[in-house]
Amino acid sequence: MIKVVPGPASRRLGASLAEELKTSVLEVESKVFPDGESYVRLKGEVAGEEVVVVQSCYPPQDKHLIELLLLVKTIKELGARKVIAAVPYLAYSRQDKRFLEGEAVSGRVVLELIGLAGADALLTVDVHSEALLEKLSFKAVNVSAMPLIARYLSQLRLLNPFILSPDKKRAREAGLVASLLNTDHGYLEKVRDLSTGEVKTMVKGLPVEGRDVVIVDDIISTGGTIANAASIVKSQGARRVLAACTHPILAKGAEERMRKAGVEEIIGTDAVESHVSRVSVAPALAEALRKL
Ligand code: R5P
Repeated sequence: MIKVVPGPASRRLGASLAEELKTSVLEVESKVFPDGESYVRLKGEVAGEEVVVVQSCYPPQDKHLIELLLLVKTIKELGARKVIAAVPYLAYSRQDKRFLEGEAVSGRVVLELIGLAGADALLTVDVHSEALLEKLSFKAVNVSAMPLIARYLSQLRLLNPFILSPDKKRAREAGLVASLLNTDHGYLEKVRDLSTGEVKTMVKGLPVEGRDVVIVDDIISTGGTIANAASIVKSQGARRVLAACTHPILAKGAEERMRKAGVEEIIGTDAVESHVSRVSVAPALAEALRKL
């Protein structure tokens, strides 16, 4: 029977996953030393066991990543037969290539570190770039939270919902949510300034008049992408605008920016533990683990 180790960043999700898998949790003691260094201590036996470490690497990314690496390495050294790193939010995955000369391909470095720590497999959720998961020395599986988000949305009383992706890259996800809600979808196109990070979204006509629009994305960070899309559909007569995402990073000012643009409700998952985490990704992780 697989054992679940909830890391300091994902204690709630780890507990939910253990419940899904009907297995036990091994606790982790953690603290930060006065100089800022991280400490973890595993409480329990792992020799000969298959273990899944659940540790999402949302902000503070570097701290959460170090804790993950310390846990994976320790569990391996203590004799676990197999260690699976479940990292719902894979930090740095947006830096999946060298956009500007001389940049670090940080997403790749993070994955290599997880492999070096001893992970036999990686499980992640709605990773920003699936290309990052190719050609690794260990098995990497990406699962989608979109069916779970769609199930949550189906319980809200939405009026003739329209599902919108704020950029072309997530059109597939919007399509999936729309098909599960038995409705239609569309996408916008955006460009991001590589130096300032500012997002520009192209205006296009959408069939949103008098309808509830749900904007779906993988990550909400500054909220700029969602705010632009919300302003566009509001100006075209949308009745209500909601935003749903897998990773509610919600950097400072993000919620205010989106609300000002007309977003009434923000729905996220516990891939990133936040006050908007209304959907648990535990069932998706459990299903993937059963297949691994
Ligand atoms: C980028 O392409 C992603 O899919 C998200 O749209 C993006 O990360 C959101 O960032 P922000 O909230 O800062 O606009």
